Formats: sequence, structure tokens, C-alpha cells
Amino acid sequence: MKPRILVARAIFPEVVERLAAQFEVESNPDDRIFSAAELQDKVRDKDAILTTASERVTTELIGSASRLKAICNIAVGYNNIDLAAATRAGIMVTNTPDVLNQTTADFGWALLMATARRVTEAEHWLRAGNWKKWRYDAFLGADVHGSTLGIIGMGRIGQAIARRSMGFDMQVLYHNRSRLSPELEAHANHARYTSKEEVLRQADHLMLVLPYSPASHHAIGAAELASMKPGATLVNLARGGIVDDAALIAALREHRLAAAGLDVFENEPAFNPDFLKLSNVVLTPHIASASEPTRRAMANCAVDNLIAALAGATPPNLLNPEALKKG
Ligand code: 8YV
Repeated sequence: MKPRILVARAIFPEVVERLAAQFEVESNPDDRIFSAAELQDKVRDKDAILTTASERVTTELIGSASRLKAICNIAVGYNNIDLAAATRAGIMVTNTPDVLNQTTADFGWALLMATARRVTEAEHWLRAGNWKKWRYDAFLGADVHGSTLGIIGMGRIGQAIARRSMGFDMQVLYHNRSRLSPELEAHANHARYTSKEEVLRQADHLMLVLPYSPASHHAIGAAELASMKPGATLVNLARGGIVDDAALIAALREHRLAAAGLDVFENEPAFNPDFLKLSNVVLTPHIASASEPTRRAMANCAVDNLIAALAGATPPNLLNPEALKKG
């Protein structure tokens, strides 16, 4: 009998076909959002699942999936999966690193530029029919060129963002769990490693690209926001929950920060509606990796991992090699 696969969300049809060539596939072309109980029920008889960052793969789900060998996430982040529980159960977990670095870094810059130069705010104003005359002080923003870019989370995406700052003659400060090698720092526009506190104090534009974990929950809260330069901007490309959204809303409302650009939110897609009352925030629906080739590459990367896992090979992007010892 062929192994059984669940593709939890709608993905490119040819990616489902790739799986269907060798497995019995239950897919979700209508992109229904399953309740936790439904998802648990669907996974019960599956050998492997393809998930996105929106599906929560909990201890309970893992506990009731006795055949499950692999959870292949179509995302680089994997905080939606209880990795420790999967490892204890001998289940391989994989993600999709690298294929999205450049596209996500491009989008970080799109948000930074839109935020600093008030692009979406100005467009909304124009569309609303307000443009009757030019004014010297209309939509004055912050300069990006020549300013200091602070990056918290200097992984592969953070480094790709830093490299792009060369053309803007920026100085880059970064904080990360560990310092990069001198070669990587040089390649990342000679980024200078320093404490999180110093990055917050010095940055004109702050970019958050760190993974979410209980340790990074509310890494940027009221105190951190208060320590930033008056008039600085903040971009969150990483995960909801890294920023305390209520504290950010307060800082934006009081114009202690000039503006923010957010692709991710606490409790998304049901984000805090108070963001909508603010003009100094650029809001996008978790689309940083959303270019056609990159989303396709992410889905194919997850399928490569799944095929390797079920063939008894080590998947290229295995996050928990310890699981193999239990399997
Ligand atoms: C995904 C992401 O589009 O890769 C990640 O971690 O956040 C995005 O690129 C999204 O999470 C879909 O799984």
C-alpha cells in the first residue's frame, strides 16, 4: 500500500501531482481551514504531512498520529510545530530555508522604504481625493540613505538585507545569538555586532528578522520601544509575538516612533484592529516570501524533504536529527 500524505493547505497543483505520483494524497484545493480536532483526525492515518506556518502541530496531534514519520513545513520558521514532541515520537520535522532568503530580503526593503517615506499613507490620501495642491511639507519622511540600519536576527535573511544597504551608504549594527565570522560581517556591508540595547539606541531604522521562540516572545515591548531613537522606524518581517503589538500601537499613536512596517502580527490573521486607526503604519498580510518562483521553490523544497524522509534517507532540511535515533 502507498504511504498516505496530507497536504494541509492549497498549494500549486503540480506540487500535489508530484506527490500523487508516488503517494496516496489527501489535499485541500479549496483551502479550508481545519479546526484543531479536524486536523488531528485527518493526520491520524497519515505517514507524512505538508503544513504551512498556519497549522499548529501540537503534542496532542502528534500523540494521536501513530503512523506519522515526517512533518514537512512549507516555511523557514517552524514555531507552529512542537519540535520536542515530534522528536520524542521519532518524527522528522523539516523546513524550507535558503530558497526564500532573497525574496524575503527584497520585501524587507519594500517595507522599510514604504515605512520611512510614507508611501502607502500618501497613496491612501491621494486616492481619497485630497490632492489639491503641492505643499513643501506634505508627507515629509525619514531619509534611508546615509542612516543607521539596526538588524536584530542576523541569519541568512538578515545578512541579505544588510547586503542591500550598501547602495544606500548605510551603517549596519546587528544583534544575533552569536556573532558572524569576520568574512560574513564584511559581506553584510561591514555590519557591526553589538548588544540588543545598543542596536535599539542607535538605529534610525530597525529591522526584526529573528525566529520566534518562547525566548523571543515580546523581545520588543514597551521598554525596548521607549529606548529607541525618537522618530525611528521599525519593520517586523519575522513573526507575530516578537513585538508586543499593544505597546507598538501606543508608541505609534504617541509618535514616539515615526512609523512601522509590519508583515506579521500577534494572533494573525485576527490582528489588533487598533492598527487600522493609525496612519503611520504599513500593514501587509504575511507576504514577505510571496513571489511566484519563491513560493513554488518553498513547496518543492518541502516535497523534496518529504520524499527523502519516506524513502528512508535523511531529508536535506532535517531540523531534528535526534528523531532518527528513535525511529
Ligand atoms: C511563509 C514564513 O510564507 O517561511 C516562513 O517562515 O513566514 C513565510 O515565508 C508562511 O509562513 C507560510 O508557511
